[in-house]
Amino acid sequence: MKDSKHLRPPKAGFSRRDFLKGSGAAAAATAIGEGVSGAVAAEAGSSVVGPGPVSIALNVNGQRRSATVEPRTTLLEVLRYQFDLTGAKPISEDGSSGGSTVLLDGKPVSASTVLALEAVGREVRTVEGLHGDPVPAAFVANDGQQCGFCTPGFVVAVRAFLDKHPSASEAEIRAGLNGNICRCGTYANIIQAVLDVVKGGSDG
Ligand code: FES
Repeated sequence: MKDSKHLRPPKAGFSRRDFLKGSGAAAAATAIGEGVSGAVAAEAGSSVVGPGPVSIALNVNGQRRSATVEPRTTLLEVLRYQFDLTGAKPISEDGSSGGSTVLLDGKPVSASTVLALEAVGREVRTVEGLHGDPVPAAFVANDGQQCGFCTPGFVVAVRAFLDKHPSASEAEIRAGLNGNICRCGTYANIIQAVLDVVKGGSDG
């Protein structure tokens, strides 16, 4: 008689846990050094976090902020629903509208396409962190918004663009901002606002 263990179906070779460990999501969820703690995978030596919530600390607008997130939580969700920073907008999950644009280490990204865990150890700046910047003032002076829903994303995108191209021409501005969409069609005023900042030389 065969040993009963030979009659058992093979142990499932690919568990959900294995999948999470091997997937891109798990790679993104891998502990990113300081700033991630809490329910980190219990196994000794494992650097995989989740799928349960973990505690993280983020540097947002120069302040250290604490949050509890699942590995799948986006940066946009943390900003809006845990930090009450509602400037970045959930207009498009894939970032195609530019509505959730924030700066990550000075570079514009769509917060809806970045995991909160990916922002650990990096500098996040939102439109709320641009208080006193000439860009939002130029939007106001030029009526660069109607409903205003796209405006925070535009303002952040403009700031990032001018940081790299402080003397940009109108054509360069139009090309540089083509990742942001305004359903109200205030493009002419937005471009004029950016030109004002360029001409004013006060963005420097
Ligand atoms: S001002 Fe309404 S979408 Fe741009």
